[in-house]
Amino acid sequence: MVKTNLGWDGSSGDPAAIEPSEWFQAQANINQSDIRTSFNQSWPECWTEAADLLDWNTVYETILDDSNPPFYRWFPDGELNACYNCIDRHVDADNVAIEWIGNLGKTRSYTYSELYDEVNALAAALSNLGVSEDDVVTIYLPVVPELPIAMLACARIGAPHSVVFAGFSADALATRLDAASSEYLITCDGFYRRGDAINQKRRVDDALLQVDHSVDETIVVDRLGDEYPHALHDNEHDYERLIDSFTGTEVNPVSRSAEDMLFLMYTSGTTGKPKGVRHSTGGYLAQTAWTTQAVLDLDSSDTIWTAADIGWITGHSYTVYGPLALGATTVLYEGAPDTPDREHIESVIDEYDINVFYTSATAIRSMMKRHPPDTDYDLSSIRLLGTVGEPIGSDAWHWYRQTFGDGETPVVDTWWQTETGSIMISTLPGVDTMKPGAAGPPLPGNDIQVVDPDGNPVDTGQAGYLTVNRPWPSMARTVHGGDDRFIEEYWQRFSDPDTDTWAYFTGDGAQYDDEGYIRLLGRVDDVINVSSRRLRTVEIESQILDIEGVTETAVVGGRDEAGRTVVFAYVTTEQDRKIDKEHIREQVKQGIQDAVGELAHPGQVIITPDLPKTRSGKIMRRLLEDISNDNEYGDTSALRNPEIVGEIESALSEK
Ligand code: WTA
Repeated sequence: MVKTNLGWDGSSGDPAAIEPSEWFQAQANINQSDIRTSFNQSWPECWTEAADLLDWNTVYETILDDSNPPFYRWFPDGELNACYNCIDRHVDADNVAIEWIGNLGKTRSYTYSELYDEVNALAAALSNLGVSEDDVVTIYLPVVPELPIAMLACARIGAPHSVVFAGFSADALATRLDAASSEYLITCDGFYRRGDAINQKRRVDDALLQVDHSVDETIVVDRLGDEYPHALHDNEHDYERLIDSFTGTEVNPVSRSAEDMLFLMYTSGTTGKPKGVRHSTGGYLAQTAWTTQAVLDLDSSDTIWTAADIGWITGHSYTVYGPLALGATTVLYEGAPDTPDREHIESVIDEYDINVFYTSATAIRSMMKRHPPDTDYDLSSIRLLGTVGEPIGSDAWHWYRQTFGDGETPVVDTWWQTETGSIMISTLPGVDTMKPGAAGPPLPGNDIQVVDPDGNPVDTGQAGYLTVNRPWPSMARTVHGGDDRFIEEYWQRFSDPDTDTWAYFTGDGAQYDDEGYIRLLGRVDDVINVSSRRLRTVEIESQILDIEGVTETAVVGGRDEAGRTVVFAYVTTEQDRKIDKEHIREQVKQGIQDAVGELAHPGQVIITPDLPKTRSGKIMRRLLEDISNDNEYGDTSALRNPEIVGEIESALSEK
């Protein structure tokens, strides 16, 4: 949890509300203030507004088939092709589709017609290698243009893609290849990360030794050039050579049923085994395009920089599919968004005239930690800022708006998940008042509730479980190979088939305020049993965050010498100030005691330079639990900062 100005129960009062400026409202894609009412009145027909953003080969007659919940089907008798929608229909306008900013100063730019040519050549090559409709193609690439090109080539021939984050280990790749029974792989020889060359091909070779089935064909992008020669086996093909031999070949976009799988995405795995979330072609693309237009306010003449890895759902939806479906220019950035200095981010905004900048709350906070808000760059192209991934406190919200939006532009705090496919909760920037610290009301068409353990809505101001009580087009269709798991993980808890009541459980805690705004309170599965009290970690964490000098904290349950569960509190402190660690430690202990009650043992306080985080910025509590309990560490492949593990271990042994 990260410091915000608000108590976790919102008790410190409402944040100051900020109205969107008139100039923004006047030009916004959506400015009808009654849009929520009109969507509610016409639900589910309202979603034709999203479907109408796409070109259909066969126009659907049915909007929603809800005969077999929770396996909902949207526009089920419609047919379309996602690649056609993202490329072919924009070729005549011939905008720039992709601006790529690579490591070590490399850049590349593709117009829609150049993208068309390369995607067609790769689609032809894939078909020639034997890839047929419905074969899952695994893509294991860093953020290079070949990544979206491969995704779109797959979509063109109706082969679902499964993108595995390039930073993942050989084990993680092997698990995902096996889980999807994927026989085709697109990867690269290596790539640069923070100046170091990473040998990706070696990881691939290791993974291929581990998979249970055979991976028939592998395509290898030569990212590192002659400096790092790599040998290719018979069933491994050089990307460039393949493209050359199919240049000029056009491949008909396959007409796919709207319900056919567009892609699989394995969730980041903060808990348990990774789940392959299955997304559809029609509903996913329709709602992704609609939210890109409605929430990110994107037009075809705009340039958007969604600074997130494409291996994460945010990159799939708002770097690739949403912006390209609308014919806009999308910026791909190879480095990690929060590692370069802030000037670099600003220079990209200036040089590429970015209109919409969208990044994670974690990235915003880390930029904020490192740099004072002043700049020589011209950021005036920015019209809208967006944040995602974690609650953003009002301090960071204001800093973000001031630094990148000159204190003028709207900021959208967008709540959604891999499973929801597209943004679900956010203000509409041309319509709604912004309240820093609260994401916003549900987007039009969504029925989102905050409920008690029995599924009854709680009063405003009360914390509860966040559920979605009506299906939506971009919802996950199932967990790959596990309809039962899909039901168990997401539906069982708050649904009652006897009364035909269906509610999707998000796994998040939240509260409504009396104006219908939702404040997110973190994952509810983070609970600890201390002294027979079931405690939500957020409750303890919000106590600790009240302490001056503390910036971030995560608490987990660990065992003391007597075998009792006690609180282990991991704490990071402000960097620039001289911090009296002992003083902070005492205060944290007191804070824990306040939260868990006098009788409970206060546990341990570990002050550390950083917390272990996944690449999407989530604190990896499971790993902290393992460290605290001296357990074997589980899968740490999702970790963005593996070096912190050793630091934490030594901080713990100092205690
Ligand atoms: C969290 C990322 C607060 C939440 C798109 C959710 C947020 C999880 C926000 C999904 C937000 C996402 N405010 N929390 N604006 N957006 N989350 O699947 O806990 O990587 O359940 O998808 O991120 O993470 P995922």
